[in-house]
This record gives sequence, C-alpha cells and structure tokens, in this order.
Amino acid sequence: MDYTYTVSSIITLLNCINYVGCVFHTKPAADSTPSVGCATKPKISYQRDVHPIFMDKCIVCHTAPYGEGYRKTGLDMESYEALLDGSIYGPGIVPGNSKTSPLNMLLEGRAGNLSRKLKNQHKPITGHEIKILKLWVEQGAKNN
Ligand code: HEC
Repeated sequence: MDYTYTVSSIITLLNCINYVGCVFHTKPAADSTPSVGCATKPKISYQRDVHPIFMDKCIVCHTAPYGEGYRKTGLDMESYEALLDGSIYGPGIVPGNSKTSPLNMLLEGRAGNLSRKLKNQHKPITGHEIKILKLWVEQGAKNN
C-alpha cells in the first residue's frame, strides 16, 4: 500500500534529535498512545511546519479550480480555511483527534472503511511529515 509508513522507534528518535526549530512544552500528551522516543513533544505551527508540507507535496493537485485532487474531491489545501472546509466527503480534519481525522487516517494507512482514497504521488510524503501532521491535529489543528 502506498501510504503505509512504519514509524520505527529509531526513526522517531532521530526525528526527535533532528527536529529543527522544535519548541518543547511540558504538558502531557493528549492521547495515551505509547510514546515513542520523545518524552516531550514539539509544538507544531501551521505556518512554519504544516503549510510548507502541503505546498511542497499536495498543492499541485489540491488547489482550485484546476488541481486534479480538487476537481475530484473538492479538497483545496492552499489556505487554512479551505483545508478545514474539507471535501465532498466532509471534513478531513477533526481538531484534537488524529485518530478519527480522515486525512491522518489516510496518510497513516488506516483508511479502514472510509470511502475516500488517496492518489499515488510523484513526490510522496515522508514518515516524518506524517508525524508532524499528526501532532498538529492532536494539538488542535490551529491556524498558528
Ligand atoms: C498527483 C495529484 C495529487 C497529489 C500530489 C495529491 N493528491 Fe490527494 N488526491 C488526488 C486525487 C485525484 C484524489 C481523489 C482520489 C480518488 O478518489 O480516486 C485525492 C484524494 C485525496 C484525499 C481524499 C479526499 C478527501 O477529501 O478526504 C485526501 C485526504 C488527499 N487527497 C490528501 C492529499 C495530501 C495530504 C496530499 C499531499 C501529501 C495529496 N493529497 C497530494 C490527487 C493528488
């Protein structure tokens, strides 16, 4: 499967060490997933961390009016507002809950019985980027 990424604890540990511009906060994680590697989690910024990922990997197709992904699903990822608006299937992001956020589910290879699906990409998203998106959603998917 295209979007199955195994986040090994080694990669996670490397990400913890390598994460540039990471601001640590001391609050316990919102979810109780066994934490891999990091005792504290970096605070994610939409402007600094998330939007650049979408611009680099997704916008070529997910922008109105001509992007292929936009035309097929209505998912426009160019602005925060458009992203949160979701697609013809409904919202793609559930702020605070990456477990039930369709976008995170698809990217993490947990599509389950969702009717939506992703498309093969020339420039695939990395495990590290998937983790950033997960943390961002867990932290409330803010426009920060
Ligand atoms: C090559 C063009 C292309 C790129 C690049 C692309 N997509 Fe898509 N995306 C599509 C198409 C086309 C569909 C519809 C697939 C289908 O239903 O057959 C889709 C569907 C989706 C869906 C499911 C629809 C929905 O609203 O839930 C999500 C989520 C999604 N893409 C997210 C992303 C993300 C995140 C990225 C960047 C990492 C990305 N896509 C990059 C073309 C693309």
